Amino acid sequence: MDVRLLRPEEAAAVAATLRHRVVVADRLERQRRDECLYLVAWEGGTPVGQALLHRRRPSALAVAGVVDSLPYIEDVFVLPEWRNRGIGTGLLEAAESAAAARGDRGVSLAVSTGNAAARRLYTRRGYVDAGVPVHRHATTEPGFDGEGQSGNETVVDLVKRLDAVAAASWPALRGGDRPRQAR
Ligand SMILES: CC(C)(COP(=O)(O)OP(=O)(O)OC[C@H]1O[C@@H](n2cnc3c(N)ncnc32)[C@H](O)[C@@H]1OP(=O)(O)O)[C@@H](O)C(=O)NCCC(=O)NCCS
Repeated sequence: MDVRLLRPEEAAAVAATLRHRVVVADRLERQRRDECLYLVAWEGGTPVGQALLHRRRPSALAVAGVVDSLPYIEDVFVLPEWRNRGIGTGLLEAAESAAAARGDRGVSLAVSTGNAAARRLYTRRGYVDAGVPVHRHATTEPGFDGEGQSGNETVVDLVKRLDAVAAASWPALRGGDRPRQAR
């Protein structure tokens, strides 16, 4: 399993399996502007998982001073048939190491209070409650058919300090030509 930044020529493959092409194109454009990194996990040439690392938390999702100043991990997702093999762990590892390589001292994310599987994953990787009251969080994203899927979930904000995270593997990811084994 390799995790690397999405390249423009790979957008169609990701749009066929993970997210609508409008979302993929938007993320690539924001990655080009250095606003975010679009990390994709590949198995044998097929995209099987993804995570988005925002340089800073999007203002629409602002919650509190210190947390808002941290990079924000969003849309950690692994195709159902590829779960429980370490891919989610590998995506988080890659996002954290990318943030550490930029000198960020922590990362944040929001997880639905009822999402037990994701919360176990984050706890295992050292994420702790950010101390922000549980709140509602709007979600809107075009589905595969292009129709908007709006939702609202109750989330808890988590943070992780990156002091102990090795940033060394990041240059390989960034180039995309020396993919690393996440597990
Ligand atoms: C949450 C999510 C990203 C986790 O992805 P994943 O690839 O299954 O994550 P991992 O494989 O790293 O870890 C999941 C479990 O598999 C176990 N595991 C990892 N590698 C394993 C392996 N080689 N063999 C057996 N089990 C393994 C982990 O220990 C973990 O166990 P747990 O359920 O007891 O905690 C995935 O379930 C998902 O996409 N869910 C829907 C979207 C979502 O909720 N995203 C989070 C939004 S905040």
